[in-house]
Amino acid sequence: MSMVKIDPTRRIGAIDRKVYGMFIEHLGRCIYGGIYDPESPLSDENGIRRDVLEAARGLRVPLLRYPGGNFVSAYHWLDGVGPREKRPVRVELAWETIETNQFGTNEFIQYCRALGSEPYLCANLGSGSMDEAAAWVEYCNREVGTSYSNLRAEHGFPEPHRVTYWGLGNEIYGDWQIGHKSAQDYAKFARECAKAMRRVDPEIKLVLCGGQELAWDLEVLDKCADLVDYISYHFYWGRVEGEDPHYSTLAQPHRSEQYLRFLWSLVEQVRRDRGVKHPIRIAVDEWNAWYVEHAGDRVKDRYDLTAALSVAVYLNMMRRNCRAIGIATLAQMVNVIAPIYTSPEGMFLQTIYHPLRLAVEKSGPIALDAYVQCDHYAAEYLDVPEVPYLDVLATLDETESKLFLSLVNLRKEEEQVVDIRIQEAAVASDGLAHIVTGEAPEVYNDFGAERVGVETERLSDLSSAFAYRLRPMTHAVLELTVK
Ligand code: AHR
Repeated sequence: MSMVKIDPTRRIGAIDRKVYGMFIEHLGRCIYGGIYDPESPLSDENGIRRDVLEAARGLRVPLLRYPGGNFVSAYHWLDGVGPREKRPVRVELAWETIETNQFGTNEFIQYCRALGSEPYLCANLGSGSMDEAAAWVEYCNREVGTSYSNLRAEHGFPEPHRVTYWGLGNEIYGDWQIGHKSAQDYAKFARECAKAMRRVDPEIKLVLCGGQELAWDLEVLDKCADLVDYISYHFYWGRVEGEDPHYSTLAQPHRSEQYLRFLWSLVEQVRRDRGVKHPIRIAVDEWNAWYVEHAGDRVKDRYDLTAALSVAVYLNMMRRNCRAIGIATLAQMVNVIAPIYTSPEGMFLQTIYHPLRLAVEKSGPIALDAYVQCDHYAAEYLDVPEVPYLDVLATLDETESKLFLSLVNLRKEEEQVVDIRIQEAAVASDGLAHIVTGEAPEVYNDFGAERVGVETERLSDLSSAFAYRLRPMTHAVLELTVK
């Protein structure tokens, strides 16, 4: 029997809603054919796919990152503004394709407004210049009266877009990036860009490009900590060759957590050494399971139940680390390794959509320090000695008097009877369980075939101590009323 003990007064901290963010890139059919498809009867008068927007609204996206990804490292934002017929068609260097620039900054901002999200723009610190990055901030954020803000008004947007979140480049540490740089060169350049961007608008929040490598992270933080608010971190995972596909996939969030803890200590150490008074937090601005490539489409993924469970574990993990993580944007929102998948005729929700939706809908703003007792397995191939078979996140919504328990049973074959004990609070006898499960780890959704969704069951006879039977391969969020 597994045991979970919760005391609502034992808090880890507040969960920043920006961890439920999404990312869209000019890549594959994410923008063209996903978000935006002017030829489609499913689109509105602005070319926005209505069905996709509706599905995305279900994820209550607080923050939307754009336009890349690798794409941004060779992107010149001026190409994507102004009259559409005058926008240049360019050879696109990141993904070796053609970019028509029919969707650009203003379309993105309008999309964010329609979705109810804050925009997060990533600047080109690959092939771009400091002037270009500062000019983009001017175009978006200054009141009319300067050359780029006047240009925005000329383009039909007299009011500033007021974009708060800006990325200082994408994965510049990687040789695959156009304009790849060493940590020293990037730190120097990012610092100067940050200075210039901040002088255009001192209110912006800047995300420094992290390297998924402590030596890079130390160098860039050391040189730029006084000017930035976040450091980015990317993590994609999949099954490990030669190991059980289900269990090796589910061990991956723990590997990521190890790194995030090192990174957080580094951030705090640099802040202390450099006398930086403002907080710096981690922006996990690309994360997702990414493991199946299908022929005929360069980057896409058909997600199975295991992937959905691993997304649930990753969401639990990020929120347990809510002191460190201030932003997370899932890569990506539509078609490219995404929860929403379209064809010209329609769309369907992938398995991973459901834990994402449950996380935004069925969770409180405070993460609690749950005590968990359960069996573990070893994933030495990932240097993770102990992976709990039961993954738990407890959150509290004081305004609504709700306690949410996000549970994942990793076991493929056995249910787990979870002995739940809630201390220092009375629990109402009725509750709900929102469940994501399926018949096999490999089961996936398709057009017209939603095999994995959410079922909601009523719970009765609850008290501050009760047992919950968690089915195998199942993510369940228990919604309890507490007083
Ligand atoms: O999300 C797909 C790609 O993965 C992004 O363009 C890049 O930043 C990452 O390597």
